[in-house]
Amino acid sequence: MPRPLQISDESIDLAAKALRSGELVAFPTETVYGLGADATDDDAVAKIFEAKNRPRFNPLIVHVPDIESAKRIVEFPPQTEAIATRFWPGAISFVLPRRPDSGLSLLVSAGLPTVAVRMPVHEEARKLLCAVGRPIAAPSANSSGRISPTTAQHVANDLGDRVSVILDGGPCKFGVESTVVDLSVSPPALLRPGGVTAEALEEALGHPLGKPISSPDSPKSPGMLKSHYAPTLPVRMNANAARTGEALLGFGPAPECTMNLSEIGNLTEAAANLFAHMHQLDDPRWTGIAVMPVPEIGLGRAINDRLRRAAALRD
Ligand code: TXA
Ligand code: MG
Repeated sequence: MPRPLQISDESIDLAAKALRSGELVAFPTETVYGLGADATDDDAVAKIFEAKNRPRFNPLIVHVPDIESAKRIVEFPPQTEAIATRFWPGAISFVLPRRPDSGLSLLVSAGLPTVAVRMPVHEEARKLLCAVGRPIAAPSANSSGRISPTTAQHVANDLGDRVSVILDGGPCKFGVESTVVDLSVSPPALLRPGGVTAEALEEALGHPLGKPISSPDSPKSPGMLKSHYAPTLPVRMNANAARTGEALLGFGPAPECTMNLSEIGNLTEAAANLFAHMHQLDDPRWTGIAVMPVPEIGLGRAINDRLRRAAALRD
């Protein structure tokens, strides 16, 4: 079990190497400790959900050391630049349209066309991000249902055996997660209150914030955010074979399937492939997507949650 390493140039270097080879690293930010993974690596991002034992795939915040790095992954119109330079670095994340050439894993944004991006103010966190040279996905470093960690020891107690490196930068200054504001809609909407207040944002924008859009057309699946990716084609779960016209998304050995989430039946691999495969199969060439059974254990719960939401839309 990794002991927290005092943050230093050496430990940052070690952590950056671990991140570049697809491992998980817990690191301090000014808000809470983050559970970081290379946001361009599907398998690494899948490990985040596995380590947190999250029963569903929430889109994650991608951390960058500077505005230039943010511009490489999301669209950055001039108004965004003005807001970003006003509040960054800081405890605020902006949801923006993801660039087609962002190179980000689809799992990072749960298949959405947008990505939440944040430039932390924490100096060592930014050193780490610079050293990695890749965008880092990082939710709070706690297992699902537990409170967010504000010391390295909290992380070690909770996730100790599931991360490669824990960097200890002392207690977090704020202790609450960043404000999340959606700049991809007009007017921008506050998705999560945090360190930066709605008033400060409204003052900078020069107009009131809008209301977030949530689940108006899907009363059957409470908690289903409109902003979650749903395929256009109907999804049929627990299928053993495709019906006429359907694409078959396999899990485990399935020679006749159109694409396979994991031929060897590995749930981490399946999670890593889920959104990319669904996107590819969501094509008018087929009439629907039939999905083979995925076991309801570990990451399988998150995979099935996502599939159930996609399937329920048509019921
Ligand atoms: O303070 C923080 O932001 C911490 C530290 C580690 O930086 N990170 C954090 O990350 O809280 P995470 O991944 O747990 O936060 C995800 C939040 C959720 O409320 C999620 O719904 C929202 O950001 N979010 C992420 N991407 C989104 C997107 N594309 N559209 C809408 N909401 C998004
Ligand atoms: Mg959290």
